Amino acid sequence: MELLTRSLMELIDLRSDTVTKPSVAMMEAMMNAKLGDDVFAEDPTIIELQAYAANLFGKEAALFCPSGTMTNQVAIKVHTKPGDEVICDVNSHIYNYEGGGISANSGVQAKLLHGNEGRLNAELIEANINPDFDWLVKTRLVSLENTVNRAGGSFYTTKQIQPIYELCQSNNLKLHLDGARIFNALVETKENPEEVAKYFHSISVCLSKGLGAPVGSLLLGDKQFIKEARRVRKLLGGGMRQAGILAAAGLYALQNNVHRLKEDHLKAKRIEETLATLPFVESILPVYTNIVIFNLKKDVISGEAFEKKLAEQNVKISSFGKQNIRMVTHLDFTETMLNRTLEVLNGINV
Ligand SMILES: Cc1ncc(COP(=O)(O)O)c(C=O)c1O
Repeated sequence: MELLTRSLMELIDLRSDTVTKPSVAMMEAMMNAKLGDDVFAEDPTIIELQAYAANLFGKEAALFCPSGTMTNQVAIKVHTKPGDEVICDVNSHIYNYEGGGISANSGVQAKLLHGNEGRLNAELIEANINPDFDWLVKTRLVSLENTVNRAGGSFYTTKQIQPIYELCQSNNLKLHLDGARIFNALVETKENPEEVAKYFHSISVCLSKGLGAPVGSLLLGDKQFIKEARRVRKLLGGGMRQAGILAAAGLYALQNNVHRLKEDHLKAKRIEETLATLPFVESILPVYTNIVIFNLKKDVISGEAFEKKLAEQNVKISSFGKQNIRMVTHLDFTETMLNRTLEVLNGINV
């Protein structure tokens, strides 16, 4: 009983899937990691992680970086020249949440398209590729996000990606994937990492989201691309020394925490089902993976007030806009926490 009461009082953090803490087994792997200086490419655990990931995605090489922001920004800088344009969805992380890095790091501008729940298609992209005139900005890169953070974790199938790749090939464009949550997509589509990866010139994969590592992302591509990416990573200050201690966590995450992502998706669905019954909820974006985004009725309760009500019950969520709320399920969000969250939601009086 005491244990139950204690777990009911536990803080439930649904702000993001980045809030997870390393498990004991993951920390053991970190403690036992063999280390070296990775700026000299001599850290055995980083070398192992990079080889493991490259092999998993069927790519020639990989690069371990501190964050998904860095893997995206490095990729954009390698693929483009100042004055170029990158095509991406208006909701994309590279445009909204990377501190203006596209322009600050690469001198590149973004053409923002309105995709279907954050997903672009070949037709839409084709209509936005500039002809090769001196006075037009050079379209150089297309960047997709999978899953789409700001669109309820919507995902692409390879069938949807293939025509985009073919369009890019025939227009001499590079195609990058912000695959911060690529494994959330893959557990739903039941496709292999290789099947998706073959359509991209570069892929960013985060280890610190649903996979539960404390730090780290991988950039994948061919050998020449990764050679250039290593230079750019150093330029941006991302050259790390005995970071095998972090790579060990990443390796553990890739080997142990992929298949269980489905549990996070089922929990997100149960939150969606409860929200659908609540009178103060205006609308809910379809929940595809582990991200639940919904709007509150304007004259009934504000996002700020809702956030506060939940915080009083030890449930942390993030409000996106005035009425817009996001909840993200993850590795440290247990069944008991789910039941408690549903109870708190059902108990809200406005
Ligand atoms: C879709 C997407 N891409 C990239 C990132 C950046 O990752 P990081 O926080 O490791 O920089 C995030 C972070 O939440 C994300 O959601």
